[in-house]
Amino acid sequence: MDEKQRIMQLRDELHRHNYNYYIKNAPVISDQQFDELMDELMRLEARHPELADDTSPSVRVGSDLNHEFVQVTHTRPMLSLGNTYSRADVEAFWQRTSEALGGAPFAVCCELKFDGLSIALHYEHRRLVRAVTRGDGVQGDDVTDNVKTIRSVPLQLPAGCGCPDDFEIRGEVLMPWQSFERLNAEREAIGEQLFANPRNAASGTLKSKNSAVVARRRLDAYLYYVLGENLPYSTHFERLQAAAQWGFKVSAHAKLAHSVDEIFEYIDYWDIHRRELPVATDGIVLKVNDLSQQLALGTTAKSPRWAIAYKFKAERALTRLNEVTFQVGRTGAVTPVANMEPVLLAGTVVRRASLHNADIMEQLDLHLGDRVWVEKAGEIIPQITGVDLDARHDNPNLGDKVKFIDHCPECGSPLVRYPGEAAHYCPNDTQCPPQLKGRIEHFISRDAMNIDSLGPETVDDYFERGLIRDAADLYNLTTADLQGDGGTRLRSAQKVIDALEASKQVPFERVLYALGIRFVGKVAAKSLARHFGSMTALCQAETEAMLEVEGIGEVIASSVHAYLAEPRNRQLVERLAQAGLQMEAGKQALASDALLGKTIVISGTFAHHSREEYKTMIEAHGGKNVGSISKKTSFVLAGEGVGPSKLDKATKLGVPLVAENEFLAMLGDE
Ligand code: IVH
Repeated sequence: MDEKQRIMQLRDELHRHNYNYYIKNAPVISDQQFDELMDELMRLEARHPELADDTSPSVRVGSDLNHEFVQVTHTRPMLSLGNTYSRADVEAFWQRTSEALGGAPFAVCCELKFDGLSIALHYEHRRLVRAVTRGDGVQGDDVTDNVKTIRSVPLQLPAGCGCPDDFEIRGEVLMPWQSFERLNAEREAIGEQLFANPRNAASGTLKSKNSAVVARRRLDAYLYYVLGENLPYSTHFERLQAAAQWGFKVSAHAKLAHSVDEIFEYIDYWDIHRRELPVATDGIVLKVNDLSQQLALGTTAKSPRWAIAYKFKAERALTRLNEVTFQVGRTGAVTPVANMEPVLLAGTVVRRASLHNADIMEQLDLHLGDRVWVEKAGEIIPQITGVDLDARHDNPNLGDKVKFIDHCPECGSPLVRYPGEAAHYCPNDTQCPPQLKGRIEHFISRDAMNIDSLGPETVDDYFERGLIRDAADLYNLTTADLQGDGGTRLRSAQKVIDALEASKQVPFERVLYALGIRFVGKVAAKSLARHFGSMTALCQAETEAMLEVEGIGEVIASSVHAYLAEPRNRQLVERLAQAGLQMEAGKQALASDALLGKTIVISGTFAHHSREEYKTMIEAHGGKNVGSISKKTSFVLAGEGVGPSKLDKATKLGVPLVAENEFLAMLGDE
């Protein structure tokens, strides 16, 4: 078999494994085997740019290329659904439909209402050609590159699957609970605002201008509406089943109902069991099943008359507000927290709820002793959604209106509010205890220095005992200090000291992340560390130089610059360096630094080495290989037959082309 055939075979196989894993939930090979096949495909594709295919399974990794979205007009408007909240509304829908159909029998397809954002996918000859967001219903954004990274969206449907040549399928893009929780944990670690629910997170992600970011965030998609001419099906339900046959992820929970009672059964069941689903749902959708009946019922300007959404009642409970306390985080952000009389909500006892910020608190107009409504937003984070005003009249225990504080509850500094930000901050980042402790906790956390024999309680203990005020103090600790009066035994004290010693080998990129510079997550720290190579170089860099780095924008660059401009922070870094922490990227492994800080795109075919070898060489000489040309690209390593679109782009952005021999000369003729 030649390489071309092998590429085709691998693509087919990987499409199939993707389907087994992400749609059928029944993988037949291990993750490792999957990765090996994918690696082999990517290696072969790199050697055969002439076989490039934009629906290859390898496009799932996304690209670092930034792009603006193009607006596309929908083939047919994307309507919304009328909302109902009560059983009476559902009965009225049934009645209305029955009358409009002149008393003819009809069935209703009951489906879950997925809580994400809608998407329209276009397929031509079994290939995904376009994905468009709902937008205003008439026009949406072309987000094809981003959608291609969603593993459950087929890029190519299997041959002979029976799908039409040209059709559109609509559905919902979602962020599963698991991805959502992971994302928020990461954002918390870098002091970024959390997403309130998976819908906002999915929407923010899908509109990201960088598809590699989308790929990392692990979105999912369920499809629920097929549009196309001349499809051989007369009902919506059959179309759903057909779509599942063709290879789409279609919810297995759609069910036909032939009476209002059957609809209520469906509602009652899913109102409870939706908590077991991996994604958020906020109701159910009822659709008249027969397509000719749908046509007869027609649509209004905004929504079809043949469908309606029943929204689940948010689970809520009434309880008493006892107190509002204020928490100070690592970044100094102050969060108001409501402390309430314990109340049972969706199976757990709730005592506390975040009030988010001063504006939200003000809108609620809370008084101590108020009876408040508590809801579970997205089933996890309890929130106060309102005050029972009637209960105020005869409440002898009603206290004062709750006010946001103007001084830090921990250190007494006057709070500040930056323009455009919702949060209040305690500016005393040099002395305010929770800020100091929070920064040390971040420093030792797993993704940072990974000093796992220390935890928040130990940090708290050392801090209270005056042993540490910042991360560098950790490296002056002795076993005698740790044994102290806390009664820690020698063995565990020694364990801590050993772990601190071992952390001196943690690579520079993680040391940089561990500093806890605002907005600098793991990925940004890695890019900066690789690009600049050392703390010294980074300290000398101007903001403009940082903007040259892939994935680093204004916000991160100014934050890093401001951090390093602060003498106190420079001292901390200096002391950490003295202690022996890695302040240089693994330079010893570099063959040379001929390409240090250079971002290079490889294109075409080569005479002396394979693309894969060139990739390795670029990294060995300090450069970075990326997939697509942007204004940050230093040059294109151009072999035979560079594609016309790449040439065009390079010319437009003024990115130089470097020929193979020229490149080898740069590295001292390998
Ligand atoms: S059908 C014309 N089915 O709910 C009918 N929509 O308020 C088009 N949604 O914009 C929609 N789950 O984003 C349909 N099973 C489902 C759905 C669903 C969620 C969303 C969709 C739509 C919104 C309507």
